[in-house]
Amino acid sequence: MFEHLIGLKNRSADELVTILDAAERFLDESGDPRVPPDCVDTLDGKSVGLLFFEPSTRTRVSFQYATHQLGGYPLFLSDQNSSVRKGESVLDTCRNLAAMGFDGLVIRHDDRNLPFSLAEKVDVPIINAGNGSGEHPTQALVDALTLRRAFGRKLGQDLNGLNVSIIGDVVHSRVARSDVHALRTLGAEVTLAGPQRLLPRSSDTDWDARMVHSRQEALNGADAVIVLRIKTEKIHGDVIDTNTFIRDWGIDEAVVDEEMGPETKILHPGPVIRGVELTDAVADGPSSLIFDQVSKGVAVRMAILDKLLGG
Ligand code: CP
Repeated sequence: MFEHLIGLKNRSADELVTILDAAERFLDESGDPRVPPDCVDTLDGKSVGLLFFEPSTRTRVSFQYATHQLGGYPLFLSDQNSSVRKGESVLDTCRNLAAMGFDGLVIRHDDRNLPFSLAEKVDVPIINAGNGSGEHPTQALVDALTLRRAFGRKLGQDLNGLNVSIIGDVVHSRVARSDVHALRTLGAEVTLAGPQRLLPRSSDTDWDARMVHSRQEALNGADAVIVLRIKTEKIHGDVIDTNTFIRDWGIDEAVVDEEMGPETKILHPGPVIRGVELTDAVADGPSSLIFDQVSKGVAVRMAILDKLLGG
C-alpha cells in the first residue's frame, strides 16, 4: 500500500478506509487494543527506532507499546540521550540506526521537511509522528477511527455526512491539518474555528474546510468537536490571553448544555490543558471520547507497524 507514512494529503478514501479496517483487527469487542493471534510475532526480530526530538506521551508510548506487543524491539532516542546533542545530524543518526539493522524509524521533529528527506535518504520505512506544524498522520487516523466507531459506521465505511468542528489553535496544529485531509477525504464536512490569529488564512488551499469565528457557529449542528490546546511553544510575539480564550472558546458544562447538541461528541488529541480548552467535567463527561482516542491510538499504531514492517 505504501512504503512510508509521512502525511495524509492526497491519500485516497480507499486507502484510508483500508487502514481503519486494518486497525479494527487490533481492537477487541469492547474497543480496547488487542493483538490478533496471527500478529503476535509479526515484528519478531524487527527493531523500531523511536526518535522523538519533541516531548510526547501518547504517540511515543503507544508506538513503543505497539512494537513490543507485536514481538519487536523498540528503541527510544531523543536529543538528550543521543549524539545529536554533540552535534551529529538527525539524518546521520537515522543512517546509523539503519546501518545497525533497524527496520523502521518513527520520528517527531520540528523540521517540517525532515521526514520527507529521511524517506529519500534512509533505506528503511519512515513514520512521521509529527513534523512541526506539518502533519500528524497517525493521530488523524486515530481520530477517524474513533469517530467511525462512535457513529456506528462499520468495516469498509467512511465518514460521509458527518459534521466535525475543530476548535482552538488550528494554524499551529499538525493534528488539525492531518484531520482535515483525512476527514474530508472520508466524506465528513469540517469546520475550523478559533481566535482569528490561530486560524489559517482562508487563501491557504491546504485547509479544505469552512471557517467560522464564534464558538456557537462552530458547535451548531456539529456531530463531533475536536478541541485543540493553544500551542504556546509555537506562538512567538503576542501571547494569547488565557482568560479571553476560555471565555470565547473554552467548553464547560454550560456550553455543552446550551450550545451543543445532546449527542455531540468531544475529542481532543491531548495533551489537554484542563480548565482552559475544556473543564474537568467536560473532559471526563459522557460526551468525551478522549480516552477512547488513546486506546484506539495503540490499535492504529499496531496496524501501521504491521503493514509497514510486519512479517
Ligand atoms: N496526540 C499527541 O500527539 O500527543 P503526544 O504529544 O503526547 O504524543
